[in-house]
Amino acid sequence: MLIRKPEGWEIPEREATPESVYMNRRQILQAAGLLATPSLFGQAKPLYPAAKNDEFNVPAAALTPEWAASGYNNYYEFDPYGKETVKNLVGDFNISPWQIQVSGLVKEPKTYDLDDLLKKLPIQERVYRFRCVERWAMVVPWSGFPLASLIKLVEPKSTAKYVRFVTVSRPKEMPGMKQAPYPWPYFEGLRMDEAMNPLTMMVTGLYGKPVPKQNGAPVRLIVPWKYGYKSPKSIAKIEFMSNEPPIFWNRLQAAEYGFYSNVEPKKPHPRWSQAYEQMIPTMERRPTLQYNGYEKFVAGMYNGKEF
Ligand code: MTE
Repeated sequence: MLIRKPEGWEIPEREATPESVYMNRRQILQAAGLLATPSLFGQAKPLYPAAKNDEFNVPAAALTPEWAASGYNNYYEFDPYGKETVKNLVGDFNISPWQIQVSGLVKEPKTYDLDDLLKKLPIQERVYRFRCVERWAMVVPWSGFPLASLIKLVEPKSTAKYVRFVTVSRPKEMPGMKQAPYPWPYFEGLRMDEAMNPLTMMVTGLYGKPVPKQNGAPVRLIVPWKYGYKSPKSIAKIEFMSNEPPIFWNRLQAAEYGFYSNVEPKKPHPRWSQAYEQMIPTMERRPTLQYNGYEKFVAGMYNGKEF
């Protein structure tokens, strides 16, 4: 991934470069997600790295190396059969401009431009544990905004009890969609209190840079107390509903993947134990933690049966 160090270029460049050239470069950087809201004096503040928020830190293994977190991915639209291959298959995926359609039980159904949202909803960096149902686990710094801040902005009606997410469908840009007969596009859902929980985050960055395409660019969800498949990538639609929405993996294999999918070491997957996890890339084994270690933030939402 081509990354430009953003520090300190704005003022000298504006002074030294003809406006047309300057604007062109600004547009390129904007498209790459490296610029944020113009500040008081018209200078753009870089979006990344975002201010760190340590409020939700929990005891965790050491940070996963960046190359490992962005090189071992589940992203079935690109490759339903491989993980290390995904990063090599995302080249044609177009992520800018990006829009999110908000619909259903909401004050005003509307399509939002991601760049505009990022001007209104400041991003922050949080280190989260991340646990896949397949047992592999990572510890990574995500950047993004709380989903709750977006929900407040769009004003759902009081009858909205669930939120449904639908990811983008681009068979021409996503080669895996033709390889497996799945009910594309990927869809997921949360109960409204889960969606409003401060831990639930709309992610646009990873390791202090825009999130790589293989990790869900330009915007994905992270729900760190649930198995990773509850965190859809490349979100295109958000719908507010009164009933529990169906989810992709439950539609495919209802006996193996439930709506809640909260991390629970004592509840094995029908085909394997969930008592331990394995850290990427060393595969070191560690005990699985209930709610993936986020019990103090989330246990109050449940009666202990939602797994
Ligand atoms: N989102 C989409 N659109 N497509 C997918 O295949 N896989 C899910 C989730 N989100 C997936 C998705 C699964 S199974 C996991 S474990 C995580 O993404 C993996 O996220 P990562 O590759 O950033 O580690």
